[in-house]
Amino acid sequence: MQKVRKAIFPVGGLGTRFLPATKAMPKEMLPVVDKPLIQYAFEEARAAGIEQFIFITGRNKNVLNNHFDHSYELQKLLSEKAKKDLLALTRDWLPEAGQIAFIRQQEALGLGHAVWCARNLIGDEPFAVLLADEMLLSKKPFLQDMVEAYQKTGASIIGVAKVPAKKTDKYGIIDVEKEEDGLIKIKGMVEKPAPDKAPSNLSIIGRYILDPEIISYLDKGRHIKGAGNEIQLTDSMSAMLATKPFYGIKFTGERYDCGSKKGFIAANIAFALARKDMRAATEQLIRRFAAKL
Ligand code: G1P
Repeated sequence: MQKVRKAIFPVGGLGTRFLPATKAMPKEMLPVVDKPLIQYAFEEARAAGIEQFIFITGRNKNVLNNHFDHSYELQKLLSEKAKKDLLALTRDWLPEAGQIAFIRQQEALGLGHAVWCARNLIGDEPFAVLLADEMLLSKKPFLQDMVEAYQKTGASIIGVAKVPAKKTDKYGIIDVEKEEDGLIKIKGMVEKPAPDKAPSNLSIIGRYILDPEIISYLDKGRHIKGAGNEIQLTDSMSAMLATKPFYGIKFTGERYDCGSKKGFIAANIAFALARKDMRAATEQLIRRFAAKL
């Protein structure tokens, strides 16, 4: 079985749901506690064994490149002052030179188009896709579970989680053939169906391991607009399902959709509570606010 070494991070979206914060700054740089969304996704991928990180970016996104590079002035100052902890936060987590690539999407045409833009770097290898605005809080990095499921099945793996039935029109939704040993055999997928058209309430959560053949489906579908008038990854996956198996695995930890303001605020509270250095102060804050309700 081929190793899953590559991951794609689509970060070319315009982030309109977070204006004015995202007017000049990419939404993936929004911090949860003190770390940008994109760094959480990067660290999740690295913990799952990913070695090559491919960012699909757009205009106004250069600050993302800078975040994954050295910051010499800051590093010099912090080392002169022997501020080891701060230096570590600035420098020590960086990928090695050559492990990271940036591709311009040129136009924000949708997730399917973003993944297609990486085709020349993917070649004939399975790869992961991570959407940084979906934050997953769990003991073991979820992508690692997904990589293990890929090693077992050799098939494309999609991370899924239940959503309230009335919210199916916000997500990709899967249709289940059967469930066995924690793996769901998928028989259909549809992007953002209305609640009365949804085949289930299991939504795609922005984590994928894909067979490289998906590139040829994305190639065929690269001018076909789907839900929301965007080129959808779900549509190409659904086309590939006719010839190649897909499995879903359920994420059972806490999921925060930081594409929405409510999810973003919830993520800040949850991630602060999960941190030893922030827990007591956050609990105190919550009590103070709750007392006023
Ligand atoms: C994308 C995918 C969708 C998935 C969602 C998860 O939608 O197209 O299938 O459920 O991410 O966050 P988006 O939120 O980019 O519209």
